[in-house]
Amino acid sequence: MKNLTIIEHPLIKRDLSILRNKKTDNHLFRSTLRRIASVMAFEITRDLTLKRKFVQTPLERTTGYVLAEEVILVPVLRAGLGLVEGFLDIIPEAKVGHVGIYRNEQTLEPVDYYSKFPKTLQRSLVLLLDPMLATGGSGTAAITFLKQKGARRIRFVSLLAAPEGVTKVASIHPDVRVFSTVLDRKLNSRGYILPGLGDAGDRIFGTE
Ligand code: PRP
Ligand code: URA
Repeated sequence: MKNLTIIEHPLIKRDLSILRNKKTDNHLFRSTLRRIASVMAFEITRDLTLKRKFVQTPLERTTGYVLAEEVILVPVLRAGLGLVEGFLDIIPEAKVGHVGIYRNEQTLEPVDYYSKFPKTLQRSLVLLLDPMLATGGSGTAAITFLKQKGARRIRFVSLLAAPEGVTKVASIHPDVRVFSTVLDRKLNSRGYILPGLGDAGDRIFGTE
């Protein structure tokens, strides 16, 4: 899977275990997701370009840096919202767009219902946030949507990915790199990731 980067870190493995645990309550789930998102943000943005900006320390002038490119976070509603704060903790200057997509539980087909993006979409690095990449229906639809709106540089950020979803993104959007903390085994007959963590949106928002 050439389009997939697995972000490995002992702290991520520890947090992922908390998220997988069915006994973890909504409050702990949200705070753990936020923390894991911050560690991911750090790794995913390693190659961001900088421009020099002088800074005056209390002692002398020295070279400082600011980001040379704009970053836009686009959570896929609802579950992608659970990753936003963790990313903003690390990239506070990022702008945030939204795309609302849910999968029809019967057909597993994506349905889009809302979108709003910053005007700088075309020139920004877009980090599309969705903790679950299962069949890839929602993810690929969100990417298609972003491209139609002008986005050119898109990275897909998931927490758990299934092989089916990674393959689907590669076949429809070969230019989009997928980042995840783990490649899980497979999907069950209802399109849930195994071993997975259940329904991410429900666990974040307490709608189980
Ligand atoms: C979940 C998840 C993804 C999608 C993944 O959302 O957050 O968006 O399923 O599945 P797929 O790869 O098979 O499309 P869901 O449709 O449950 O909506 P929600 O975020 O509102 O709970
Ligand atoms: N969406 C989820 O929230 N969980 C899954 O396992 C698959 C899709």
